[in-house]
Amino acid sequence: MKNLYVCILTGALLSASAWADDNAARVEASRNAVKELQGALVTELRAAMKAGGPVNAIEVCHKRAAEIAAGISAKHGWKVGRTSLKYRNPGNAPDAWEKQVLQDFEKRKAAGEDAAKLEHHEIVGKEFRYMKALPVPADMPCLKCHGEQLDPAVQARLKELYPGDKATGYKTGDLRGAVTIRQSL
Ligand code: HEC
Repeated sequence: MKNLYVCILTGALLSASAWADDNAARVEASRNAVKELQGALVTELRAAMKAGGPVNAIEVCHKRAAEIAAGISAKHGWKVGRTSLKYRNPGNAPDAWEKQVLQDFEKRKAAGEDAAKLEHHEIVGKEFRYMKALPVPADMPCLKCHGEQLDPAVQARLKELYPGDKATGYKTGDLRGAVTIRQSL
């Protein structure tokens, strides 16, 4: 009888640690997907800025952001996207869970956590969900399209494409939004 308990206990511990490992692997894979998405976007953004300035580069964010995210989603069988409390594209609006996590990121940042390292993962229903904050770095051109003062041509094009745009008025270090990933379990 005693042995049976030991077996059950060992089994429970083993499956708990397998579960933890599984989560760790999912977090690691999620981090890599974030790097892939942001890396590809920033590379294309920089090239487009160089070739034709920020108005030209708007087209990259407008078209390619969703395409690149769709490619990474398809590769893994996940849903990968970007979201924000103050979104530009209404298609990127956060759901209730994402909104809560974004608000929590703001609180954690205000409490002194390094904004570049803010992330959160959780099992929600039958999904593993992961979010990674996107602060505005000092060395990237984010503020040309998300800053407090925009070039009038940039402003005009953004208004054409996104009449309800909320994604301006940011400063270096602010949280622009987050990458959000959903994996079915
Ligand atoms: C050339 C203009 C431009 C630059 C530079 C730019 N963005 Fe954007 N950003 C956009 C546009 C346009 C969208 C809307 C994309 C869409 O339709 O999905 C957007 C959307 C986003 C979103 C998705 C949430 C939302 O608001 O819809 C995030 C997050 C974001 N940008 C972060 C950044 C960060 C961080 C940087 C700097 C590394 C950056 N952007 C640089 C134009 C720009």
